[in-house]
Amino acid sequence: MAMKNAISWTLVLFLLISVLNNCLNNSVKKEVREHTVFMDNLRKLYSSGDPSKWPKPILDPESVPTFAEIGHLPETPFPSDNPYSAEKELLGKTLFFDPRLSRSEQIACASCHDPELGWCDSRTLSFGHDRQLGVRNAMSIINTAYAKNLFWDGRAGSLEVQSKMPIEDQREMNGHMDLAAGKIAAVKGYQILFEKAFGDKTVTKERIAKAIATFERTVKSSASKFDQFIDGKADVYSDDELMGLHLFRTKAQCINCHNSGYFSNNTFENIGTALLGEKGEDLGRYLVTKNADDAGRFRVPGLREVSRTGPYLHNGSMTTLQEVIQFYSKGNPEYSQKRATVHEGILLKSEKSGMVRMLELSDREVAQLEAFLKTLSSKPEKVTLPELPK
Ligand code: HEC
Ligand code: HEC
Repeated sequence: MAMKNAISWTLVLFLLISVLNNCLNNSVKKEVREHTVFMDNLRKLYSSGDPSKWPKPILDPESVPTFAEIGHLPETPFPSDNPYSAEKELLGKTLFFDPRLSRSEQIACASCHDPELGWCDSRTLSFGHDRQLGVRNAMSIINTAYAKNLFWDGRAGSLEVQSKMPIEDQREMNGHMDLAAGKIAAVKGYQILFEKAFGDKTVTKERIAKAIATFERTVKSSASKFDQFIDGKADVYSDDELMGLHLFRTKAQCINCHNSGYFSNNTFENIGTALLGEKGEDLGRYLVTKNADDAGRFRVPGLREVSRTGPYLHNGSMTTLQEVIQFYSKGNPEYSQKRATVHEGILLKSEKSGMVRMLELSDREVAQLEAFLKTLSSKPEKVTLPELPK
């Protein structure tokens, strides 16, 4: 009797377990099914070729005035007082690679903006004249045609104005525009290039600046995996890349600041990187405007080609994209006891943007965002070095 009882109890238990197991299996299957439907749908919307069909981005009210949906880069804008010509581009490219623009005749623009290193120098901070260390991370010149203000603090309003600055910067090329122009004018081989670009042989610093700016505007990303995907090549994206794109526009809210085809809204924001009151303090935009609200703000950098342009941030303090994303995930923590400094007798505080907050991304989500950012890089074009005139 006892034996029989034990057998039936075992049977009942067995049945119960298998029923439970089945239920569990079904609910897991249901979840998998629902996830697949969700992902298929997401893929269809994002690769539809029509951004108006995309899920709505999650924006803070503050970001709305400068918001433009991410997408392709528009046609390169050339200003009316410095229109494009192939001859000007060639002259600009030649000057960009010519170390004779520097005092020592050893440093060219391309020394710190190297096409093989994503048009920057892959250093934390740059070496310039006499191997002096600069104070900021070199920015890539790729897609700068789309930047409204140049440099991390926006101190140059156009590429024409910008290009004279490194020539005169003591830590960079340590020269003088008049000196540089004089040296270039003395090189016979340049005369023909100036004549073709500007109609006569005269070398002026304005012409040098215009030619370099024209060349820089032609340095532009070609179509990336992202561009192909949103144009309808639905299967070029993995599920992780797709989820990364969706997170970028929704839960992680990167799109608040990194938006438009350039992946920057061209504003200045404080994301908690200024290190006020600490070693390495950088007041950023404040140095240009002297407006206390700007202490610690930096230009929102475009993110195309970002996997090729590390290390990251104005001071090159982060070496991997994963590190940057983790920083955002934790809400960009700053040491609470500092965040303030006295500069020229004025108390300045670092006020972080309300748009950076704890995101609590899972490791998987961090990896998905990283996978997405990597799809913003295009194949590096092979750059043929110009022949330097004699
Ligand atoms: C010694 C290294 C060095 C040299 C040489 C150099 N640069 Fe730079 N470049 C930098 C650094 C560092 C920055 C960022 C500086 C900052 O924001 O304060 C920068 C920023 C720029 C930017 C701004 C990009 C953006 O998106 O805002 C442009 C454009 C640029 N450089 C072009 C040039 C040109 C043109 C030359 C030659 C005339 C040149 N650079 C020479 C290191 C260098
Ligand atoms: C409030 C505006 C804002 C938001 C939101 C924002 N960023 Fe940024 N981002 C910036 C600014 C400003 C910098 C430059 C800061 C510096 O150099 O110190 C930057 C820098 C970066 C860089 C480094 C780029 C380089 O060339 O050095 C990456 C990568 C980046 N952001 C990715 C993201 C991702 C991913 C998100 C979403 C999780 C995000 N950002 C959200 C404003 C923002």
